[in-house]
Amino acid sequence: MDGRILVLPGDGVGPEVLREARRVLAAIEELYGHRFDIIEGSMGAEAIERFGTPLPEETRKLAVSVDAVLLGAVGFAVQPANGPTVDPAKGLLELRELLGNYANLRPIAVPDTVVGTSPFRADHVRGVDLVIVREALGGIYYGRPRGIENGVAYDTEIYSEAEIRRIAESAFELARTRRRKVTSIDKANVLASSVLWRRITGEVAGQYADIEFASMFVDNCAMQLISNPRQFDVLLTNNMFGDILSDEAAVLCGSLGMLPSASVGGDVGLYEPVHGTAPDIAGKGIANPVGAILSVAMMLDLTFELPEEANAIGDAVARVLRDGYATADLWAAGGRAPVSTAEMGTLVVGALGTPKRAKREQRC
Ligand code: IPM
Ligand code: MN
Repeated sequence: MDGRILVLPGDGVGPEVLREARRVLAAIEELYGHRFDIIEGSMGAEAIERFGTPLPEETRKLAVSVDAVLLGAVGFAVQPANGPTVDPAKGLLELRELLGNYANLRPIAVPDTVVGTSPFRADHVRGVDLVIVREALGGIYYGRPRGIENGVAYDTEIYSEAEIRRIAESAFELARTRRRKVTSIDKANVLASSVLWRRITGEVAGQYADIEFASMFVDNCAMQLISNPRQFDVLLTNNMFGDILSDEAAVLCGSLGMLPSASVGGDVGLYEPVHGTAPDIAGKGIANPVGAILSVAMMLDLTFELPEEANAIGDAVARVLRDGYATADLWAAGGRAPVSTAEMGTLVVGALGTPKRAKREQRC
């Protein structure tokens, strides 16, 4: 057995896209001779309805006992029969915290195979290849105090030096495996937390003389992601800026549905597409499963250290897109008719081909 995976389909399009991701994983098991023990758990609105909480104790226990968690999407604020409205998104924040996964990695690339699906001109986005390294356990998403009292609402953006240093180190280490450039995002002209962010990231940059480093204000970055996206390699952000900029950057490659993510740093990796539950298209069988499928690739690479299998999935997705197949969110005029979620899964499985038999025999 090669490892244990907890699958949390969640809400909305989550179960639909994970179904295809699991088919791709099953094909990889078959082709490369692996076996993963897959356990399914409850999370999100679906868990609130059954257990009154978005991250039930049972799911928490499972999550810390496996090697990796594969999540679909959580959303839809629900009102349990007896109790206050609960937002399922809280379950995701709790899960990241439980697993200690402070580094949320969100790669965004526009290879030749994808340029046709981007709403941008091909020559503007061709070759974009960046990764957002988003701090995922701190900042305003977790800061206390927080509340709404007497017509006044408040949240707390809070970062310690240690929190900034560890995520900065993740970004610089990652840059060493890429084009060796880190751009750190802040709002140091206004926020105290960003002043500290700029100071500490600058200090860490000093330990990585081989990496090009720059700080950039978040508002400027929002513009530059559109006007000159190829300049970026590793974007280092706090929790909220990374959340916002990753949705924005997704458009470069055509759709939020394309993007995978990994949350790492703790013992159990958490892998999920960047998109949400997409209630408007849930249940219609038209959601794009590519983000979920590529999240499986990230899981194989980062948790199970199977880069060949991970690359095989990336290549298969690239081949399918190159051949002009696209789900409705990616639909570019003039090509084929859009394919369904399940058809996209089938195409990717078909494109996996067979690994070199000789290589497989060598291994066994
Ligand atoms: C994301 C989502 C979550 C986040 C929400 C659902 C808590 O928007 O993964 O980007 O903000 O991290
Ligand atoms: Mn988000």
